[in-house]
Amino acid sequence: MVARVIAIASGKGGVGKTTIALNLGFAMASLKKNILVVDTDVSLPNLDLYTGLEKPLITLLDVLNGSANIQSAIYSIQMGLNILPCGSSIEALRGADIDKLGEIITELKNSEFDFIILDVPAGLSKFSLLPMTYSDEVILIVNPDAASISDAQKVRTISGLTDMKITGIIVNKYKKSSYEDIGIKLGLPVIGVVPVDDAVVKSRDSKKPIIMLKPKSAPAKALLQIARKVCGIPEKKSILERLLG
Ligand SMILES: Nc1ncnc2c1ncn2[C@@H]1O[C@H](COP(=O)(O)OP(=O)(O)OP(=O)(O)O)[C@@H](O)[C@H]1O
Ligand SMILES: [Mg+2]
Repeated sequence: MVARVIAIASGKGGVGKTTIALNLGFAMASLKKNILVVDTDVSLPNLDLYTGLEKPLITLLDVLNGSANIQSAIYSIQMGLNILPCGSSIEALRGADIDKLGEIITELKNSEFDFIILDVPAGLSKFSLLPMTYSDEVILIVNPDAASISDAQKVRTISGLTDMKITGIIVNKYKKSSYEDIGIKLGLPVIGVVPVDDAVVKSRDSKKPIIMLKPKSAPAKALLQIARKVCGIPEKKSILERLLG
């Protein structure tokens, strides 16, 4: 089996990459897919904090510095959802060879996972571009504010100079603005829209996925809809919608 690698990236920081990567992973796992979420943010990792997997013993940094194999750094969180945390040991970071990331992704691609979701660091440094380049598709997370849109535009421009493939955007922390406009401004399809909601913050604080903590909330519904799209599963329609065609 060959996994599909999806990079969750952004221009501006703090837009919700880790939140979306992890919660999309949970939503895709609930659709019976085998998912691996990888924290590729070597300088400021925090995926482990969002999952309750604090201070994991073996991490991506240990694999990058050659002191551990990949399988020993993968943690099963629940059925279908696995995490490869990055780790924040300065010592492990010192010896880490980031150029090995491509090799690691290629090795993971040929394992038991259906999808590998990469939580990519913000911006346009080598650390962000490398995981994006090794993915099959990049999804940009954009907030509906000028700085986030402008920074996403820069990533889009750079992507045109490489062979990375941005397939669309997820508008996160949506309030009341026209999200179609954001897609048009960036020239990219809008894969989904996740509203700003305190339930997302509660989900992070309680380390529980939003689809379990508040399954009826707007962000949970939005994430499940995005998960179906990404997995290529047709959208669930109500009886009324089906009758109306
Ligand atoms: N839809 C949302 N509604 C409310 N709060 C949100 C939403 N999405 C994310 N947040 C909050 O925004 C903050 C930043 O989210 P997150 O850490 O996922 O961003 P990030 O893009 O990964 O940041 P960084 O660039 O630092 O890695 C967190 O406190 C998170 O709980
Ligand atoms: Mg993050």
